[in-house]
Amino acid sequence: MPRLGIPGVPGVILRKYIRSRSWCQDLGIPRPEIQTMSGYIAKSKTDTWSTPKSLYEDLNDEFNFDEYDPCPLNDDPDKDGLSEEWAAVTFCNPPYSQLKSTKKKLGWVDKAHQECKKGKTIVLLIPSRTDTQWFHEIILENGYEVRFLKGRLKFGDSKTAAPFPSMVVVMKSK
Ligand SMILES: C[S@@+](CC[C@H](N)C(=O)[O-])C[C@H]1O[C@@H](n2cnc3c(N)ncnc32)[C@H](O)[C@@H]1O
Repeated sequence: MPRLGIPGVPGVILRKYIRSRSWCQDLGIPRPEIQTMSGYIAKSKTDTWSTPKSLYEDLNDEFNFDEYDPCPLNDDPDKDGLSEEWAAVTFCNPPYSQLKSTKKKLGWVDKAHQECKKGKTIVLLIPSRTDTQWFHEIILENGYEVRFLKGRLKFGDSKTAAPFPSMVVVMKSK
């Protein structure tokens, strides 16, 4: 699914506009496009769980991350962390709807694994989905360290806990 974006228009404004009633008429976009876009937007809500500050600070004390985020929380449509070279010690809390690779698109867990194979240290904060193919075939088969987090995280400024468990995966070349 391509990312939706208009250069110069912040993602938050674009999403509000698309949710409004008149957007189809204003933009002159045919009806089938609306269904594709609304599907994307519903998914993108799951993609913006920003890292709790204290968790990041604890991990940063341990790993000393480079000043680089492959997927920052700024909705920049021109940024594609999946096609960039990552830093030597990278922390990554990726969009959760795109963890798995498909025939058409590389997933974030695979991308992290590829970067690790270049000799880098990659620390992932991801949902604890232990039944998935990527968990078994990438994380377990390569013997990466998995830290299951006790309880549920409160992401960003949220006062309530997430509806899913999380884990930290440490990918280091052996
Ligand atoms: C779970 S949030 C994490 C944000 C931030 N890195 C943090 O740790 O708080 C994932 C972010 O990745 C962004 N994103 C989605 N696809 C992306 C891509 N291909 N390249 C870069 N960023 C992307 C989303 O807009 C979202 O803000």
